[in-house]
Amino acid sequence: MSAQVTVAVVGASGYTGLELLRLLARHPHVRLAALTSREYQGRPVGQVFPALAGIVHQEFIPPDPEEVARRARFAFTAVPHRSALEMVPRLLAAGMRVVDLSADFRFRDPGVYEAWYQPHTAPELLEEAVYGLPELHRQRLATARLVGNPGCYPTAVVLGLAPLVRARRVELHTLIADCKSGVSGAGRGASLATSFCEVADSFRAYKVFEHRHTPEMEQELSLLAGEPVRLTFTPHLVPMNRGILATLYATLTSPATEAELYGLYEGFYRDEPFVRMMPPGTLPTTAQVRGTNFCDLALRVHPAGDRVVVVAAIDNLGRGAAAQAVCNFNLMAGFPETTGLDGPPLVP
Ligand SMILES: NC(=O)c1ccc[n+]([C@@H]2O[C@H](COP(=O)([O-])OP(=O)(O)OC[C@H]3O[C@@H](n4cnc5c(N)ncnc54)[C@H](OP(=O)(O)O)[C@@H]3O)[C@@H](O)[C@H]2O)c1
Repeated sequence: MSAQVTVAVVGASGYTGLELLRLLARHPHVRLAALTSREYQGRPVGQVFPALAGIVHQEFIPPDPEEVARRARFAFTAVPHRSALEMVPRLLAAGMRVVDLSADFRFRDPGVYEAWYQPHTAPELLEEAVYGLPELHRQRLATARLVGNPGCYPTAVVLGLAPLVRARRVELHTLIADCKSGVSGAGRGASLATSFCEVADSFRAYKVFEHRHTPEMEQELSLLAGEPVRLTFTPHLVPMNRGILATLYATLTSPATEAELYGLYEGFYRDEPFVRMMPPGTLPTTAQVRGTNFCDLALRVHPAGDRVVVVAAIDNLGRGAAAQAVCNFNLMAGFPETTGLDGPPLVP
């Protein structure tokens, strides 16, 4: 792989697309070569988004896959599911490697995708697509042609539970994921449910037992456990722009101490650059990971030794989408996986 790779962002005017531009603009081995938006086609990125003036110099172009492939070797597709299903096969056919941020290539079983989304028109690609969670699939990511970048909630939940589930230290049918997300998780499109007065100064649960991230979490946790895992997942919307806090509840299969489980997590994530175990006695916040690829974790064990609570914090647009996608690109392109992702969090 040459030192400079031409890269396209399809859906560059959405929240995850803009976060990709923020990260890729300072990536030392990337040349932004094609940025698409139907609404803003023909207009300079810096004119539409003044925050990127003087940093991103291209114009938006229409999302024509063949034209995108003429300009770039790699594509990030940051478009809604279903649109990705139409676009990605054409980008691959034109010779590109793709990291898709939608749900369209995350599932191993087309039946699961079809039960939760819609008919899958390229099921053959699900066989080769690699689920883009580097801590679990690093080796396969290096040679992948197509990566299904994980959903934001599943990233926090799977990383938060993986050590316990793989070691089978918890009951696998009573796991609870109680998660809170900032409003950018719903994308940039206008909708009543995410408009200011509906969201500000309020806090609500939604899609109980119905959220489409549930089967994704169960897929990855079941692979780790080697048997089916069932999870009760309740998402909440909180009045902040970015961030996910996942509070995860599990029953231990045999009594454990906090020190023992910290040892388990520290072993599992020992060489991982983007998972930080908080010092025992402290808990992570969404603010401390804002704008980064970090997943910060902490845990507590009930004094009786029978229940464990794990808390995971990520940025939904960072580790939950764009930063993880850049990490996957680094692995695919053969660059150190931290390239372009070593900036500190946006504090406060
Ligand atoms: N937001 C998050 O926290 C998050 C986290 C993980 C994964 N994701 C996933 O990432 C993808 C993008 O999410 P987002 O939040 O960035 O959405 P968004 O803010 O709504 O942006 C969507 C982007 O896709 C373009 N687009 C929409 N329909 C299109 C179509 N039919 N063909 C081509 N381009 C189209 C839009 O621009 P034009 O309409 O101008 O073309 C825009 O640039 C989604 O699949 C989402 O599920 C989002």
